[in-house]
Amino acid sequence: MNISFFGLGYVGCVGMGCLAQNGHKVIGVDISPEKIKNINEGIPTIVEVGIGEIIKEQHLQGRISATHDYMEAVKESDISFVCVGTPSTNKGHLDLSYIYQTAKEIGEALKEKNGFHVIVIRSTVFPGTNKKVSEIIEGISGKTRNVHFAVVSNPEFLREGTAVKDYMNPPLTVIGTDCEKARDIMTELYAPLAAPLEIVPIEVAEMIKYVNNSYHALKVVFANEIGRICKSCGIDSHEVMRIFCMDKQLNISPYYFKPGFAYGGSCLPKDLKALKTMAHDLYVEAPVLNAIENSNQYHIENTIEWIQTIGYKKIGVLGLSFKAGTDDMRNSPIINVIETLHGKGYEIKIYDKNVSLARLIGKNKSVITEKLPHLNSMLQDDMESLVKWAEIIIIANSDEAFKAIKIRKGQTVIDLVRIKELEGENGYKGICW
Ligand SMILES: NC(=O)c1ccc[n+]([C@@H]2O[C@H](COP(=O)([O-])OP(=O)(O)OC[C@H]3O[C@@H](n4cnc5c(N)ncnc54)[C@H](O)[C@@H]3O)[C@@H](O)[C@H]2O)c1
Repeated sequence: MNISFFGLGYVGCVGMGCLAQNGHKVIGVDISPEKIKNINEGIPTIVEVGIGEIIKEQHLQGRISATHDYMEAVKESDISFVCVGTPSTNKGHLDLSYIYQTAKEIGEALKEKNGFHVIVIRSTVFPGTNKKVSEIIEGISGKTRNVHFAVVSNPEFLREGTAVKDYMNPPLTVIGTDCEKARDIMTELYAPLAAPLEIVPIEVAEMIKYVNNSYHALKVVFANEIGRICKSCGIDSHEVMRIFCMDKQLNISPYYFKPGFAYGGSCLPKDLKALKTMAHDLYVEAPVLNAIENSNQYHIENTIEWIQTIGYKKIGVLGLSFKAGTDDMRNSPIINVIETLHGKGYEIKIYDKNVSLARLIGKNKSVITEKLPHLNSMLQDDMESLVKWAEIIIIANSDEAFKAIKIRKGQTVIDLVRIKELEGENGYKGICW
């Protein structure tokens, strides 16, 4: 294919070199005369392992060139990759001016070009940018999105220092598009890469890079806080983290990565508190560990506020223990919700097949006597009659039986766990989706 690249920095230079290596003809565009000169002499614009050889070889093969002339670059290509910078403003906002400038240039060129053209946003941009870029191009070119051109979002996952290796071996390739023709073109383009190809809604593709990088930053900071605590009590932190990473079921795994309700139970709150106290007593600053409980508490308060905005007063709660399949109510966050709403005059009924007042003993019993002394009158044995009675139904854990509830007209269902079977029904609301 003939491909143009806007922005010949780290992402653009590696991308153009690797696509040329796959046999495509690539023309680069940049505002920097030095970068254009370099590429036209077979010299990379960046320092990266392996890129020197690739650019030199592909230049010799005649598959790589660069120009200032964006009109020519777009006209001579079927796909334009946008790899321009998206820096932070001095107030910390994302500066998308280079992206919009590039969109204008591509729009101008498409006005004079026949044939379908794919614009690939490779730069890291906010959700909604793809739509704005499409509007700019439509406005300037007079062409129609997904008919004459398509803008796809294809975030780049490479890391500087190992950029060529990362480009060739990405963990996955993400394509955000709602255009079948563009999807087929991108699938063909990335066929040489062994990585799984995920075709997703545009905003998902735009969001993922921010989620990735924020999580990577969190990993670094978390490991360093653990490192500081370990060092101050003479424990080898690398050995601790080696063992930590060996648990692929709960630690390095998708487990716990489902947006939903707050954490609770007997262990997470207690052990997090203990570690924070340990750090405090060792005079070790651990701001991330200290922020976890606040974030969890905020999530509970936010849920309570949200329920109050709905306006109904009769609430049926499905699930009282902190997760399905247990009667453990120690630190079950839904109890805080019930307690607060009860105090505000809401009428509440609860169904949980695992929680029976008669069977409660020990800490479970004291949770109820301290926090919910009226539980006796709230607990119901019959889920169906509770569902019929309630104006708001809160689904608080993922008990299989909750999938089958029938939402009646005018009722609101607040789902804290994402029951797929109920999504899309009238009155259904998910907490984080
Ligand atoms: N560097 C990385 O490791 C990396 C990894 C993944 C994603 N990203 C993202 O990719 C994007 C590019 O990053 P980078 O590190 O390659 O940036 P960079 O600063 O190295 O390169 C950007 C290039 O765009 C050029 N440019 C600016 N306006 C232009 C225009 N109108 N037309 C043509 N060229 C123009 C600049 O001259 C520069 O050469 C950013 O959004 C970044 O967040 C970077």
